[in-house]
Amino acid sequence: MALYRELDYGTPARSGAPVTVEIDGSSITVPAGTSLMRAAQEAGIAVPKLCASDSLEPFGSCRLCMVEIEGRRGFPASCTTPVEPGMKVRTQSPKLAELRRGTMELYISDHPLDCLTCSANGNCELQDMAGVVGLREVRYDPVKTHLAEPKDESNPYFSFDPAKCIVCNRCVRACEEVQGTFALTISGRGFDSQVSAGQNETFLDSECVSCGACVNACPTATLMEKSVIEKGQAERSVTTTCAYCGVGCSFKAEIKGNEVVRMVPNKDGHANHGHACVKGRFAWGYATHPDRIAAPMIRESIHDAWRTVSWDEAISYTAQRFKDIQAQYGRGSVGGLTSSRCTNEEAYLVQKLVRAAFGNNNVDTCARVCHSPTGYGLKVTLGESAGTQDFDSVLAADVVLVIGANPTDGHPVFGSQLKRRLREGAKLIVADPRGIDLVRGPHVKADHHLQLRPGSNVALLNSLAHVIVTEKLVNEVFVAERCETEAFEQWRAFVADPRHSPEAMQELTGVPAASVRAAARLYATGGNAAIYYGLGVTEHSQGSSTVMAIANLAMATGNIGRAGVGVNPLRGQNNVQGSCDMGSFPHELPGYRHVSDPLARAQFEQSWGVTLLDEPGLRIPNMLAAAHAGTFKGMYIQGEDPAQSDPDTQHVTGALKAMECVVVQDLFLNETAKYAHVFLPGASFLEKNGTFTNAERRISPVRKVMPALAGKEDWEVTVALSNALGYPMNYTHPSQIMDEIASLTPTFTGVSYAKLDRLGSIQWPCNDAAPEGTPIMHEDAFVRGKGRFMVTEYIPTEERTSRKRPLILTTGRILSQYNVGAQTRRTANGAWHAEDRLEIHPVDAEDRGINDGDWVSINSRAGETAMRATITERVQPGIVYTTFHHPESGANVITTDNSDWATNCPEYKVTAVQISKVEAPSQWQNEFQAFTHEQIDLLPPIKVVQL
Ligand code: SF4
Ligand code: SF4
Ligand code: SF4
Ligand code: FES
Repeated sequence: MALYRELDYGTPARSGAPVTVEIDGSSITVPAGTSLMRAAQEAGIAVPKLCASDSLEPFGSCRLCMVEIEGRRGFPASCTTPVEPGMKVRTQSPKLAELRRGTMELYISDHPLDCLTCSANGNCELQDMAGVVGLREVRYDPVKTHLAEPKDESNPYFSFDPAKCIVCNRCVRACEEVQGTFALTISGRGFDSQVSAGQNETFLDSECVSCGACVNACPTATLMEKSVIEKGQAERSVTTTCAYCGVGCSFKAEIKGNEVVRMVPNKDGHANHGHACVKGRFAWGYATHPDRIAAPMIRESIHDAWRTVSWDEAISYTAQRFKDIQAQYGRGSVGGLTSSRCTNEEAYLVQKLVRAAFGNNNVDTCARVCHSPTGYGLKVTLGESAGTQDFDSVLAADVVLVIGANPTDGHPVFGSQLKRRLREGAKLIVADPRGIDLVRGPHVKADHHLQLRPGSNVALLNSLAHVIVTEKLVNEVFVAERCETEAFEQWRAFVADPRHSPEAMQELTGVPAASVRAAARLYATGGNAAIYYGLGVTEHSQGSSTVMAIANLAMATGNIGRAGVGVNPLRGQNNVQGSCDMGSFPHELPGYRHVSDPLARAQFEQSWGVTLLDEPGLRIPNMLAAAHAGTFKGMYIQGEDPAQSDPDTQHVTGALKAMECVVVQDLFLNETAKYAHVFLPGASFLEKNGTFTNAERRISPVRKVMPALAGKEDWEVTVALSNALGYPMNYTHPSQIMDEIASLTPTFTGVSYAKLDRLGSIQWPCNDAAPEGTPIMHEDAFVRGKGRFMVTEYIPTEERTSRKRPLILTTGRILSQYNVGAQTRRTANGAWHAEDRLEIHPVDAEDRGINDGDWVSINSRAGETAMRATITERVQPGIVYTTFHHPESGANVITTDNSDWATNCPEYKVTAVQISKVEAPSQWQNEFQAFTHEQIDLLPPIKVVQL
């Protein structure tokens, strides 16, 4: 067996009452429902198997696992036979050995005899089992075999070689049970049985979403990663955490030399339990893409050629520029952005550098533009700026309300877990302007799709609350015990007002009143009810109000504080929770303590040896406005790309142009770096140590897999810059940074690298009261003591449609691409999404003479861009939709400067636009292209350092 293949118990664990059986003379007690195969393995006895795996329900097709049971006739399959009290089982006997050899002989007679040159050699269950059963020769020479069947190489990441298939069905079951996509079937019968990805379809053309679960499940080389075929089997593995979305999947990076051979989802991963999606599983090739910039660069003006310099020169140059700017324009004329893609330790250091070395609070993070309303809304109502549950909690939910989120695309591994629960019978309410996959997918159908108009979230939630209050569905006991009475009574009177009834609101929300009433009743009375939400909630002018309205619903129905319920923000980026926890906002020190709090400040002042300002610094929009005004001149941007990700692109790029020193630390020359004066090469997640914190507050280790391409991990660069600025930082390993975080952050007190190594991951709060972390929050009391209901008056956005701009544009993500696409665009994921497209309802398209695939101009009050049209009924009439993964699409050229009233989170989800058929790109796109060409020409010849 390959060194790094994990022990597989053959069938899933069960949780019944204890049952004792005897296997090969050993007595073993296991829960009722456990298979004999698993019971044997738990006693240290491995029964031969091929079609069984502990991540799948037993199937019983290969017959290799047969055993003898005292008092029973025949040779039952141990994978499908559950334990019964007093059973006496033999797993080895001459007869069993003979039968198993015969079975294996049949398999091998129709299998290529090319083990030595096969990509799975040394890591193949069929090969292992042939050895285990002692097969020495194959006596048959079958007239008919599958050996000449053609391979399907259509998927960019894995190949399918039917000649090697033993039709064990594991791939089919993995696609159904683990992923929930149902893309595969076994077609034909008997000898003609074969795995098929749809009728006459290749994997790429089929429903397959390239999650890799089938590849993981395959016991042969039939489904095999192309990277393994190309590079060979790995020599070692390192456990680390995915750097894409907020699910935070744990992976074993399998390595040969310093090269990643494949990323295998970790069965022990607490967030993913051995599953993954196309991004984390396959799209890691960007880390060695030739576009990586491997040496620091500087230049005076953005129209100068870049000059490659040493790290020392780049750091001292940057420090001097910042010192000069502060000397000339004042202490507050510079600031920094922390990254939600970098580690906790790196985000912590950047905010520390800004507060201690720059001497101001001008630090912000990209959470400003995604989940800042979550932080605000949950803190005010529940007392903690984070989701209340772990992901596994969904398996105890009876009703799930998904609002403004698209988990199967944005958080795919959680999406699979949710679909599993729905297949088990949980009810689903989807509140979304679009018909996302969960509304109607394979074996999943929403019980209610509340297809609201973009911008009407608060109105819809108030009308749901109206039904709960007026139909007396409030959990009065919970509210009386756990919540502030006065605030509740105010809220109750507010939502009970007839103006919030579904009937009064339906014209505004577009959702039929009967649907709202039915959904409200289901949420309030259907058992454990959980809410999952995403950027469709937060990225609005009323984002914070919407988060509070969600918390109100959960408190009113008592759906907080136990498994299966809660308020769950699906965080976008891998470490957006962590970057917020680490004090990345201008008003908060690590642990969400306000800079005006003298006690908190004193603690940091003592540790850091500086005096801290008690006034909040500038948020990103304020920094950009101050740059336009000429008072903000220098910015250190670690792992962020505001020129692509922030709204109103031309406003952002204008601000960047107005600054004297823009420092970008990144893997690639991203859109912001085109306006930079200093480029500091970043390290990918494979090149560093640290931790990420996912959407369930889970702190997971990130461990170095390969050397940093440019010689430094990101935290080392911040340390060097701080030292050059005159504020000493002396860390030699990120574990020391975590120790400092733990000493200064009450929710992290018990966190250490040693404990992370021991437990695998830890959900904060982790302290004396919860030394191993906290999966579910607010169990006995809210963090703030009593839950606080907030009145959430619906205030329509100022962004209105008009005769000139009659459509609403809303935006979102797609499974295969990730945010600004800097990473995924540099992988083969382009096979699924090579360009952003504008989704238009057929009625709107027909009105304008637009056909599928036509180029259309999209014009808002902020700007104009063009992209190709997709005509679809996924969007409603009057609504158009696009993704924002390709910079040349200019999706943010058209989004406006409207933002959330409390946090300035931009209103990406509502932009009034007009669209029309065009033949040519927009003026902005022409200028963008010319500027991009200029900037690429200004790069020095880049050599990627060979690992
Ligand atoms: S890659 Fe995933 S979605 Fe595609 S066939 Fe395999 S299990 Fe199904
Ligand atoms: S492709 Fe692999 S997992 Fe699927 S049936 Fe064939 S051998 Fe089994
Ligand atoms: S992108 Fe998200 S769901 Fe996909 S593997 Fe990474 S963490 Fe998991
Ligand atoms: S492993 Fe039990 S029948 Fe295949």
